Amino acid sequence: MSSILTRRALLARTWKVGLGLIGAAGIWSMWDLLQPLATPGFGGKVRSVAASVITEGSVTEVSEARAYLVRPPGGDIIALSSKCTHLGCKVPYCESSGRFECPCHGTTFNLIGEYLTGPAPRGMDTHPVEVGADGLLYIDTGTREDGPVPGVLTLDEPATGPSCDEGGHA
Ligand code: FES
Repeated sequence: MSSILTRRALLARTWKVGLGLIGAAGIWSMWDLLQPLATPGFGGKVRSVAASVITEGSVTEVSEARAYLVRPPGGDIIALSSKCTHLGCKVPYCESSGRFECPCHGTTFNLIGEYLTGPAPRGMDTHPVEVGADGLLYIDTGTREDGPVPGVLTLDEPATGPSCDEGGHA
């Protein structure tokens, strides 16, 4: 008789422990689901690509960050905001000229976003870039640093070819 009671007591305890574990797992899952995403999109840290993908002299657009990743010759990777410092148009990169050329009013910037010509008051703004625990580059779009003022030209190279702006600007 006492052996049956002991078995029942053991089964009851096992059930209680099992239910407790299931409850804890449920609470953990809910807590995990309610955590903010690692890459919340523009305005936060945007996950992009591995640093090895960004070769010297290349320009990689990261649309979600509204930015370009660039590794200047002999330099570290930088993130340039694609928003023109004049009136905010998106500034595309022109492969043929090797420059950023704003289609709205014709401001041009060199490979590292320094001001070259046009009505913009400064070079392209930048965002901090860091390598995450997953080895990927994160662009902090919540932080922005003003681009260099006109006249600052640390990369003084001629255009690599014709401009993408065939029509010109008034
Ligand atoms: S918005 Fe780019 S030059 Fe005006």
